[in-house]
Amino acid sequence: MDIKSAEFVMSNSDVAKCPKALLPEYAFIGRSNVGKSSLINMLTNKKSLAKTSGKPGKTQLINHFLINKNWHLVDLPGYGYARVSKSSKKTFQKFITQYFGLREQLVSAFVLVDIRHEPQTIDLEFMQWLGENGVPFSIIFTKADKLKPKAIDNHIEAYKTIMLETWEDMPNYFITSATNDIGKDAVLNYIDGLNGNMKIH
Ligand code: GTP
Ligand code: MG
Repeated sequence: MDIKSAEFVMSNSDVAKCPKALLPEYAFIGRSNVGKSSLINMLTNKKSLAKTSGKPGKTQLINHFLINKNWHLVDLPGYGYARVSKSSKKTFQKFITQYFGLREQLVSAFVLVDIRHEPQTIDLEFMQWLGENGVPFSIIFTKADKLKPKAIDNHIEAYKTIMLETWEDMPNYFITSATNDIGKDAVLNYIDGLNGNMKIH
């Protein structure tokens, strides 16, 4: 799929105020600093469409981007950032729970995982929660530019082993790098395929 247009629509902390249009929607979620916002910029060929930062906790709201005038990409705040207050953790949990519970336009979530790390409990638990709540998701491994191909293979194998302890199959997954444009076509073509199946509008 070619990206012909990508525009910021709005930021919200309240799911009820998110765009009402019944356009197919895809949400990026994952630990703080994993590269959600950077990946959105890479996929849309726009350097600063979504705000990125070297410091975790940059994205604080639900951000909608309209792509090719007919589907939404959503940038969400990260979880697992230790240095936020208890009350903001609670607020975050509330609107993420509401987002995934209420957003009927959501076709699929993408759970971003830093390919360099061992499988993290917080990610595994989050995917478990998505599964229990019937939210379809794929995994996107990020920052593949930081590892050699062999190490990438090893990390994917380790991830599969852990996932298969609780899941029947390894979820659909992608290997990406926002820095080196890796995985762009695979992710966009996957979304294109899902958009084609949608009878949402
Ligand atoms: P929060 O909004 O805080 O939850 O973070 P985020 O997941 O949106 O991460 P963001 O895109 O802001 O990126 C965090 C840091 O990782 C930045 O310093 C990015 O430059 C860096 N980064 C993101 N993607 C990549 C990548 O593919 N490769 C490398 N090497 N660095 C990356
Ligand atoms: Mg962000």
